[in-house]
Amino acid sequence: MSGVQERGMTSGGAPTGPGVVAAPPMPAEELRAALYAGALLRLPPSPGSLALVARARALLQAELGPAPREAYLKMAPSALFAALGRVRRALYLSPEAHAEIAQTLADHGLDPIEYAVDPARLRVVHPRGEQEPAAAAVYAVHRDTWYGHPSALITWWIPLDDLPPEQTFVFWPERLDLPVDNDSEAFDYDVWVAKGWSLKIGWQDPEAGKTARYPAFLGDRAALGPGVGFACRRGESLLFSGAHLHGTRAHAAPLTRFSLDLRVAHLGDVAAGRGAPRVDDRSRGSSLGDYVRLATVWPRSKTA
Ligand SMILES: [Fe+2]
Repeated sequence: MSGVQERGMTSGGAPTGPGVVAAPPMPAEELRAALYAGALLRLPPSPGSLALVARARALLQAELGPAPREAYLKMAPSALFAALGRVRRALYLSPEAHAEIAQTLADHGLDPIEYAVDPARLRVVHPRGEQEPAAAAVYAVHRDTWYGHPSALITWWIPLDDLPPEQTFVFWPERLDLPVDNDSEAFDYDVWVAKGWSLKIGWQDPEAGKTARYPAFLGDRAALGPGVGFACRRGESLLFSGAHLHGTRAHAAPLTRFSLDLRVAHLGDVAAGRGAPRVDDRSRGSSLGDYVRLATVWPRSKTA
């Protein structure tokens, strides 16, 4: 456990305190308000999330063979990066995956037509990956909002496998409304995507991790304390405000960790200025214009 706190972990039970807790049934407006206020909520696997996970796993197996989590042992790093890039691209752009995202929201009582989403990003954390300079950005402590996202951003994280706390990530919830030292002013969304989306999605340039500017916390991670961690099951959804300070944990388990994350915004909340506190985000530009409006895919998935 490496000293990471893990609280409120009972699945299906009522919230027991701070930490990652099972989301109790509540109207969508209350769910979003709780997230903006700092709640860290888990939702059980659902038809939509399981379809998305199955799609990602099938793409990984087509590229990496039957055991994708062990592919790092057998493939040259450049070939592995290229193969993962093809999976990233396919998942991000797939209209079928977009429809499965809409289904996932609907599974939990959110009306997809009210939302826009930055679609599924494949996240990859290799064993001992922190020793690879090009992977440094994977471990940077950050708020997702520092990437030109709205304050109403809800990050929706879905693991492809059952994972123990030491293979997920940690939050520092007490920092939600406290400014921290960071270089988000260096991030301009329009510059980020000026040459296409390969940098944003990470499907072409294996050296980008060394040269691109990824906004990050500039202080001493250890001084933040151990943070709040969590375990998870394949296909669960973990929801949190994109304004939460968080960071991926380095791990030395013998298997690569794969997960998906979606960036979800309620268009009405964005228009009304609702969202989490915005205490230290100096990023420029807005990614919202490139989000997929789920209204464009939901009718099709609904009748499929
Ligand atoms: Fe993040």
